[in-house]
Amino acid sequence: MPNSVKILNKINNFKKTISVSGDKSISIRWVLFSSLANGVSKAKNLLISEDVLAAIRAIKKLGIKSNFKNNQFTIYGKGIEGYKYKKNLTINAENSGTLGRLLLGLLINTNHKIKLIGDKSLSKRDFKRISDPLSRFGAKLQLRNKKNLPLTIKGTSNLTPIKYVERKGSAQCKSSVIFAAMRTDGTTYIKAKKSRNHTELLCKYLKLPIIIRSKKNYDEIYIKKVKSIKPLNYNIPSDISSSAFFIVLTALSNNSELVIKNVNVNPSRTGIITILKKMGIEILITNIRIYKGEKISDIKVKSSKIIKSINCPPKLNSGAIDEFLIIFLIAAKANGISKFTKLSELNQKESPRLKWGEYILNQMGIKTISTNDSIKIFGNPELKINKKIIIKNYLKDHRVFMTSVIAALSYGGEWEIHDQDSIKTSFPNFLKIVNQLKN
Ligand code: S3P
Repeated sequence: MPNSVKILNKINNFKKTISVSGDKSISIRWVLFSSLANGVSKAKNLLISEDVLAAIRAIKKLGIKSNFKNNQFTIYGKGIEGYKYKKNLTINAENSGTLGRLLLGLLINTNHKIKLIGDKSLSKRDFKRISDPLSRFGAKLQLRNKKNLPLTIKGTSNLTPIKYVERKGSAQCKSSVIFAAMRTDGTTYIKAKKSRNHTELLCKYLKLPIIIRSKKNYDEIYIKKVKSIKPLNYNIPSDISSSAFFIVLTALSNNSELVIKNVNVNPSRTGIITILKKMGIEILITNIRIYKGEKISDIKVKSSKIIKSINCPPKLNSGAIDEFLIIFLIAAKANGISKFTKLSELNQKESPRLKWGEYILNQMGIKTISTNDSIKIFGNPELKINKKIIIKNYLKDHRVFMTSVIAALSYGGEWEIHDQDSIKTSFPNFLKIVNQLKN
């Protein structure tokens, strides 16, 4: 299979119902919680992607077995102290910041030295943001250039609880500290800027000793040492971040309608829906239900003739943090100038995404003005692309690949998009679903 795709035609006139794959954040958390449970946990619709398989391989290195049969994943937990630590243990988080950062929280109470490595993209990302709080518990972490992977962690059984203020709106930092606190005597206090709350919801569902006080702009979390975790059977809902590509494709295509079934619409993840509705896109959330604390629904979206520009309120950033590249494609067709600010976190992802978002827009012929943490997008409701665009060397960031495919299908032109295998990290059947819409 060639590792680049060529797209020469737009896609219009589809009326379909689809399902996208399981939520990546919940899938990785399910693997980590189940790895410490007392007994057998089962998951249906687990996302089978490289990031989640990296989590499965990581717990295997820690002595935890699992298997996949009849579309069901099973993990054989050996209890909260069940990890085995071999000498010179190296764990590879591959492309996954979530896995790397969350796992470090769980490794904090072992006296063994463990090395954490990652791929080229993960090795460029900031791990100081998590080594700082974890060292305050008493663990010793050594990082390359004081900031990056590879790193080594050597924990201790003599941990002290901490008070931690999380200011970036990073669920990975918050969750890693929650995991470390689960292993520490006493009460750890976290004051965290709002971000996705799957870890907290799982803690609550599992009846772990956590108290959450939700304030307007932040959450206060108190968490104590966890003595045991019961097995966790989970039917994983579909990922709104994967759905986002098809929501945008439908909005930008002519005469189209799409229903996406069974999507996790946890309010800490639905920034994209709020933003697109403000821009005039018709989106309906139907069939709402609550599953283990998570809000699930079907999402219905229609083509949009008129798109309004937006001055995007930064308080929506964290709830849409993985969706900005695709939101920028909507802004490209808006009637007017859209502004997105306080987005420095976007350059901390698998690639510097603010830069890549701007690059794609400029290639499309859209004018932009940017700073380190903001972008103005000069929308063009008449935009038609008549040139060849090549997208490559973007650190194999899956969301850059998928955004480029949606841009090609929505706006036309002749696109050559390299590194198709990047989608394996989060959404391996992305191109299959694109083909479903074509037929
Ligand atoms: C994630 C948190 C976010 C998000 C990432 C998944 C998680 O990262 O971008 O894709 O599962 O906790 P940050 O915590 O760095 O914002």
